[in-house]
Amino acid sequence: MKNLIIAPSILSSDFSNIVEEVKTVENCGLEWLHIDVMDGSFVPNITFGPKFVNDLRPHSDLYFDAHLMINNPEQFIDAFSDAGCDSITIHSEATNHLHRALQMIKNKNKDCGVSINPATSVEMIRPVLPMVDQVLVMTVNPGFGGQSFIDLTLEKIKLLKELKEQNGYKYKINLDGGINLSTIEKAREAGCDVCVTGSAFFKAENREEFVKSMLKIANNS
Ligand code: DX5
Ligand code: ZN
Repeated sequence: MKNLIIAPSILSSDFSNIVEEVKTVENCGLEWLHIDVMDGSFVPNITFGPKFVNDLRPHSDLYFDAHLMINNPEQFIDAFSDAGCDSITIHSEATNHLHRALQMIKNKNKDCGVSINPATSVEMIRPVLPMVDQVLVMTVNPGFGGQSFIDLTLEKIKLLKELKEQNGYKYKINLDGGINLSTIEKAREAGCDVCVTGSAFFKAENREEFVKSMLKIANNS
């Protein structure tokens, strides 16, 4: 199994000090930054738009992994691409035209991802699995950091891993929500390639030590 990729979510960072917060991610030797975009409609919370990404881009070489929790994401794919995202993930529940929206991301030469909420089955995204670079399995209901991992998602993660192996699909399995030192082992055993960590990373007493401990558990399991 490949080394675990850890993607800190800036949702749990101090927004008033964002450039410094992002630097700590780089200083821990990490390569991904997870950017949670919320519209107050698909989820009951609001975060930031493309200008935020555009402003942050010159300050960081991290891989910007945008997670769009917005309805009708096709309206904003061009804007987030042009702002400098490396990857754009959209929710299967947020569009009537999932294939078209994913194709729009690919046409912008960005990595594309599809996400499913805890209550959405893998069947709903099965037709698009051959075309995506990542499947983001929500392991909490989206909207807020600091929630508890929902165990019923483990079966879906295992199924995604099986489908990937059986069919030679290339997608990474990315888990988002409630991932920390207590949950990473079961997440990894189920098939996690990338884990988003919001509060566990940004609220850790020592972020570097936290990353080391996560990698130790994950790469041993
Ligand atoms: C939730 C977001 C997550 C969130 C994870 O809707 O998509 O990325 O920041 O935060 P934790 O790790 O605290 O559950
Ligand atoms: Zn997220």
